Parts: sequence; structure tokens; C-alpha cells
Amino acid sequence: MLELLYKRRSTRKFKDTKVEKEKINMICKSALLSPSSRDKRPWEFIAIDDKQTIEKLSKCKPHGAAFMKGAPLCIAVVADPEKCDVWIEDASIASIIIQLACESIGLGSCWVQIRKRPTSDSTESEEYVKKVLQIPDNYRVESLIAIGYKDEELEPYTESSLMFEKIHKNLFQKKD
Ligand SMILES: Cc1cc2nc3c(=O)[nH]c(=O)nc-3n(C[C@H](O)[C@H](O)[C@H](O)COP(=O)(O)O)c2cc1C
Repeated sequence: MLELLYKRRSTRKFKDTKVEKEKINMICKSALLSPSSRDKRPWEFIAIDDKQTIEKLSKCKPHGAAFMKGAPLCIAVVADPEKCDVWIEDASIASIIIQLACESIGLGSCWVQIRKRPTSDSTESEEYVKKVLQIPDNYRVESLIAIGYKDEELEPYTESSLMFEKIHKNLFQKKD
């Protein structure tokens, strides 16, 4: 597990290679295995491999989304807030599970934040994504996960990069 976590970095450059159906299935199964509050499973996942749609999605906000244009696969993580009051936590957990599943099968990924982000004309990125993907009004969009074979090698984390000062024992003790 630690090896996987050290290795996982946000990949924003992808090879122009399709992600195989079996790998997409594996990623989708991983998402469905995500834990959720009271097992309500308020999420739904949209796996998008249509280039034009991904290109449209890459315009959902002015910063931090343009790279998605080069991704062969994207998974939108959406949820129904009426099914669970802590849907944000549930959708976030599913998002990171998707990223770890990708890493475990040799794929890179990057989270693109949608909730609370504006488009370039100051409307909501969430509304933009809902329109592009025909998501029903009552659903919310947490993230888009861009996925593909890595076309950049980012340094894995090392033990010396870990902020051990953030770990407290028994009580929170402020360190100067
Ligand atoms: C909640 C969340 C939102 C993020 N949103 C974006 C985003 O919109 N665009 C982007 O390029 N990266 C985004 N990232 C990736 C972070 O920038 C990245 O995880 C962070 O810089 C640490 O780098 P690493 O993932 O390589 O460890 C997001 C990550 C998280 C956890």
C-alpha cells in the first residue's frame, strides 16, 4: 500500500493510447467498492472516452482543467445529496479510490475540482459539466478524474518529504 501511495502523483500529460475496456471495468468496480456513510452509496460514475466530450469538459474552468483535453478517459463523480447528507465525503472517497485503482494498474490520473469552481465567464463549472454530460438537476458534481497512460514521469514521494510534524500523539500539541 505504501509503495502505491509514494508512487501516486497527479499526471497531467497522457499518451495518445486508449484505456482498455478491462481496465475501465476494473476502475469502475473499484469505484463501486468505495465505502460510504451508512452505506447509502449516493454516487454515480460517468466513464467518458469520447474525445469531443472530454475536450468540452476541459473547458469547464479557466485554471487546472485544460490538460484534460489530452486524456483518453475521464470519470465524472456525481452524487445525489438527497440520498446522503455527507455526499461530499462519499464522492471524495470514491474519487481517490478511482485514482489509487488507476495507479495500481499502471495508469496516471488527476483530480479536477468542479464543485465551487467558476467557469471563465463566471458561471458555475458544475452547471457547465451537468449540461455537457446531461446530468439530472438533482445531482451534484464533485470531481472529474482525468485518466490515461502517463506521458510524464514525476518523482515519487520519499520518506523525507513527509511532514511528520503533522502527526500528534494522544493530544494535539502545537509545535513551533
Ligand atoms: C480536492 C482536490 C482538488 C484538485 N483539483 C485539481 C484541479 O482542479 N486541477 C489540477 O490540475 N489538479 C488538481 N488537484 C491535484 C492537486 O493539485 C495535487 O494532488 C497536489 O498538487 C499534490 O500533487 P500530487 O497529486 O502529485 O501528490 C486536486 C487534488 C485534490 C485532492
